[in-house]
Amino acid sequence: MSDEKPKKPKKGRIDTGLKVRVKSARGRTASSARWLERQLNDPYVVKAKKEGWRSRAAFKIIEINEKCHLLKPGQRVVDLGAAPGGWSQVVAQKTGSTADRTLVVGIDYLDLDPIPGVTLLKKDFLDEDAPEQLMAALGGHRPDIVLSDMAAPTTGHHKTDYLRTMHLCEVAAMFALDVLAPGGAFVAKVFRGGTETELLAKLKQHFATVAHVKPPSSRQESVELYLVAKGFKGRQNAAETDTVDEG
Ligand SMILES: C[S@@+](CC[C@H](N)C(=O)[O-])C[C@H]1O[C@@H](n2cnc3c(N)ncnc32)[C@H](O)[C@@H]1O
Repeated sequence: MSDEKPKKPKKGRIDTGLKVRVKSARGRTASSARWLERQLNDPYVVKAKKEGWRSRAAFKIIEINEKCHLLKPGQRVVDLGAAPGGWSQVVAQKTGSTADRTLVVGIDYLDLDPIPGVTLLKKDFLDEDAPEQLMAALGGHRPDIVLSDMAAPTTGHHKTDYLRTMHLCEVAAMFALDVLAPGGAFVAKVFRGGTETELLAKLKQHFATVAHVKPPSSRQESVELYLVAKGFKGRQNAAETDTVDEG
């Protein structure tokens, strides 16, 4: 038995006290062994499995919601980059979305197993007709919340990864400005270094509050954080600013 004292989990974090070691074996690279070991020892992975969430990411939207009070019954929500479905599950539960009255639509270019109360589109959000299809799936109703947990596959080259994920965030923000109902909210994954100044300025003009949030379940070593914009001021303002920007 080891003499090492177990480390106390940081405030707001959960700890299952597990420590599973994974050896590199034939057919498993050192990096995939490290990934597997991290998964097996990650208390959020264990908790997600126990509670029936499709991903540990579910805890990120749960924690963002606890901090920012976003999700309410009856709201319509768009979930961009929905696979494997943890956020959509949480959102369907919080909004009370059902198969009879579906309030949530998710999109991803990856396959997704059906989620009760969620319309799922298998599609690239960057496709030209994606916004139209998302709105059609909401029966033409403006969403109250646009969420984006989209992340481009990482290359390991920090600058490239940053630019690709920030591009997804920008396109998601433009979509949100176009479609949100007045009073609505926009949440998007961004990378440390934060939201580009121009985008941040635009969002600050169109939302009552804009903040960056790092939920406890987001790994400390990860460069991700979330942009949370609340209190959308409406289309008219957006149109005015767009004209000013272009001038
Ligand atoms: C971190 S995962 C999302 C996890 C999800 N929030 C959950 O709770 O299960 C990011 C997702 O973004 C998706 N994605 C990235 N770029 C996309 C794009 N252009 N269109 C649609 N989905 C995209 C990826 O396929 C991936 O499934």
